[in-house]
Amino acid sequence: MLNQLTNADLINIAEEFGTPVYVYHAEKIKSQFERLQSAFDNTDTKFFYAAKALTNINILRYIKSIGCNIDCSSINEVQLAIKAGFAPQNILYTSNSIAFSEIEAAKDFGVNINIDSISNLEKFGKKFGHTYPVGIRLRPNIMAGGNLKISTGHEGSKFGIPLEHIDKVIDLVKETGLFIHGLNIHTGSELKDVEIFAKGIEVLFEVAKQFPELKFLDLGGGFKVPYEPGEEGTDIEKLAEKVKEEFNWFEKTYNRHLQVWFEPGKFLVSEAGYLITKVNVLKESGHTIFAGVDSGLNHLIRPMFYGSYHEVQNISNTAGEKKHYTVVGNICETDTFAENRELPEIKEGDFIAFLNTGAYGFEMASNYNSRFKPAEVLWKDGRAVLIRKRDDLGDLLKNQLQVL
Ligand code: LLP
Repeated sequence: MLNQLTNADLINIAEEFGTPVYVYHAEKIKSQFERLQSAFDNTDTKFFYAAKALTNINILRYIKSIGCNIDCSSINEVQLAIKAGFAPQNILYTSNSIAFSEIEAAKDFGVNINIDSISNLEKFGKKFGHTYPVGIRLRPNIMAGGNLKISTGHEGSKFGIPLEHIDKVIDLVKETGLFIHGLNIHTGSELKDVEIFAKGIEVLFEVAKQFPELKFLDLGGGFKVPYEPGEEGTDIEKLAEKVKEEFNWFEKTYNRHLQVWFEPGKFLVSEAGYLITKVNVLKESGHTIFAGVDSGLNHLIRPMFYGSYHEVQNISNTAGEKKHYTVVGNICETDTFAENRELPEIKEGDFIAFLNTGAYGFEMASNYNSRFKPAEVLWKDGRAVLIRKRDDLGDLLKNQLQVL
């Protein structure tokens, strides 16, 4: 049974560590991972946590402790993963638009690499021939994802080697002896429909016929988590059934066994995260009341950048009379978290929680307006532990050389 993180616990954390503060529920991360594991039970499937969603070193160590592998999107994430204790064979580096020197560095660390351009693939082949296996990231030319900014597999996308260039890859294999051991796609984030994954598998099977040394097909991440009340996420169990059916068919038809890899980010950490803020100011205006909190787009940019919905809760007053509020930040920009939302009466000083903010919340935070990044707290075994201190003025000045 998942240990609970109640509103009273969140209020205690806000009072002890101050606001704004991100809180992550460790056992929720574990239960999400277990759901994946049990759905894909009896299959040859590996999960690599997409670290870009949340990279606090304690989260990485926790992810490792529950038996999950890790997917990185920069050489720095690779180094954090190594620091967190992941073995190189459990680290995957799925790159895009990076310098070849980073790929060489990843090779030196001995991690798995997915290369996403013909240009880097050619350099890799010429330098290393058949000595080091690599995966290739393909652009499957499928339009899908929660919004255009997070759709990565369509024909206008910068990500991956366009499917229509596969002949060039085959030529490179012939010319340089490249050892292609995996094919990767990541079609986008918030892929609710299992059929999108099925389409991706179809594309990969077609390509797989031309690569005899394959060990795995990597279907990327993108499982949708429910953000709005009543919304549904990806049906993981149905997805697992579909994947089993398809891969069994492939194995029987072509007498080849292929491992399945996934790179879930949001699915593992999003629902485990809460951003707790405090109401600074109430301002009545026409049809709404602005509730201005001690945070903003510098701490949670998803609503402003993607138009994403995050559930807002007044954890200080859950049963009050309902009124309409527009919850805004304190940054000198129009940083609206939620527009005209019906919430129990808010008073100045109340704690407001933004739910489902474990993924791409803190990770996309900045020091805009010279404000401090929030503290981070891990809730584990029914206890709250500080895992990142709030910034202070020293952090703002840390890398500045005061020459004047
Ligand atoms: N693998 C690759 C190669 C990716 O590019 C990503 C996400 C993932 C896996 C994990 O996707 P997920 O399971 O988290 O959907 N900042 C945006 C999401 C950007 C995702 C970038 N790539 C957001 O807040 O919605």
